[in-house]
Amino acid sequence: MRSIELREKYINFFVSKGHKQIPSAPVVPENDPSVLFNTAGMQPLVPYLMGQPHPYGKRLCDYQKCMRTNDLDEVGDLTHHTFFEMLGNWSLGDYFKKESISWSFEFLTKVLEIPVERLAVTVFKGNDIVEADSESANIWKSLGISEKRIKYLGEDDNWWPNMESTGPCGPDTEIFYFRSNDEIPEEFDTSDERWVEIWNNVFMQYNHNQDGTFTELPQKNVDTGMGVERVTALLEGQTDNYASSIWNDIIETIEKVSNLDYKGHEKEMRIIADHIRSAVFISADPAGIKPSNTDQGYILRRLIRRAIRYAKKLDIDINSDWEQEIALAIINKNKKYYVELEENKDVVLDVLRTEKVKFNRTLENGLKEFEKMINKVEGKVLDKDHAFRLYDTFGFPIELTVELAKEKGIEVDVEGFKEKFKKHQEISRAGAKEKFKGGLASTGKIETQYHTATHLLNAALKVVVGPQVHQRGSNITEERMRFDFSCDHKLTDDEKQKVQDLVNKWIDAGYPVIKEEMKKDDAIKSGAECMFVERYPDIVTVYKIGDVSAELCGGPHVSNTSELPHIKIKKEEAVSAGVRRIKAVFVN
Ligand code: SER
Repeated sequence: MRSIELREKYINFFVSKGHKQIPSAPVVPENDPSVLFNTAGMQPLVPYLMGQPHPYGKRLCDYQKCMRTNDLDEVGDLTHHTFFEMLGNWSLGDYFKKESISWSFEFLTKVLEIPVERLAVTVFKGNDIVEADSESANIWKSLGISEKRIKYLGEDDNWWPNMESTGPCGPDTEIFYFRSNDEIPEEFDTSDERWVEIWNNVFMQYNHNQDGTFTELPQKNVDTGMGVERVTALLEGQTDNYASSIWNDIIETIEKVSNLDYKGHEKEMRIIADHIRSAVFISADPAGIKPSNTDQGYILRRLIRRAIRYAKKLDIDINSDWEQEIALAIINKNKKYYVELEENKDVVLDVLRTEKVKFNRTLENGLKEFEKMINKVEGKVLDKDHAFRLYDTFGFPIELTVELAKEKGIEVDVEGFKEKFKKHQEISRAGAKEKFKGGLASTGKIETQYHTATHLLNAALKVVVGPQVHQRGSNITEERMRFDFSCDHKLTDDEKQKVQDLVNKWIDAGYPVIKEEMKKDDAIKSGAECMFVERYPDIVTVYKIGDVSAELCGGPHVSNTSELPHIKIKKEEAVSAGVRRIKAVFVN
């Protein structure tokens, strides 16, 4: 069975149950400063899980681009990936446990034809917020799952995402598949690794507030998620995910460029395949991420540099077009589902080539330097100054130094390195790390204010610089707003001043911010600003600010511009050819 069929079967099935397919959101979240990447299908849907009506209705399904980087260094084994696709279906205050569980069961047993004997489930055993989920257990039983195959587990296993993260959450029921040719035990033992989780149905009815309390959401939602890579491998009978049809063309290309067999070089080839695939998807994303030393750019850099080091281990000629060939195989395989891969093909290839050339210049010397350092190491720890030199002079991400050192049985003073790094960098990578821990989207008051301010900034740029200016990206934190826009020149001081004054004038004018739903075509015709036309559904939400701005946008926003403090433009700089970036802050 091909992965393509899994995706299509899933979507067709849920469409037949009254769901509307929504397009995958970008992998870099728009206007969500709390995470670097979408880590689950529900993430772009947070405003709708919280109660805002979705233009497509109450039953949705999709396949969503996701990235999880906390296990980046684990990639190389049988199952870990950084980029992956998640299949999902949602009920926004519509159906609940009965339909959700019954449809999951029907899809698995009827459409995918998985024998019931291979399935087992867990349900929530209860805590002081919600009682044990015997309702779900009973539904499973009524469908034919035996009592011995239903286990009640606690918060660590059956609460999504977990008890710490803020945002929408709730108890879940997880579905497991017996991946082995051994005789299937009658009783489900959750610690037996032959049982692999394949699907997670979350009954998302709470919001975990910033102050630690849990409140009921205005509606009861269902949020389910199934990993395409894992389930495809299972259904194709592979214990090695990378041997499935999702990866085989990519692995074959790596075999070709290295002139080696996958067998015997699995770890290296998996790392190269995974990291180049992630780099392709990140750099094709509309956010226009480029390798850098902060945030998403740093992850992109780490991925490409780690892939290069493993390519070197396979004796691939780094100066050849190896990475271009692998990237093209990935683009060709996926462009049908993600048009941006084809549209931004040149950008992707250029990102890979440029970063490779940059790193390749110093890699060889850096490795020599590393060997010298290791020979002189006292004790078993490489100190912060050496680690910093590898970073600063040779472009070694600290994680690369740690990995190289580990191969020699040596540790690195990472904490010391970070302190030194912080002193040298305006924004430290630690900031990026915090974001991973930050959990799900929770748009606070200040972020909401900044969000509205970006609309004003966009409109002011059009007045001052010209109507050809369009948004190319934005990123908001509690401390500042960042706005990328198309523009062929560096803004003059006069232009910057005029833009700032105009935004502040509009803030003083106290314009109402009005939300309207309308047909996409009508919105575009009326001249509403829109970053990626094809990415919006047919019915869209438009936010109008007085008569100065109209933009397609999911919100949230303040209700009147008078709720905003004045802004001050702190910086204006180039991002890439034809794209400029403004950083601005609120002043009181
Ligand atoms: N949000 C849940 C998960 O990621 C279900 O989609 O597992």
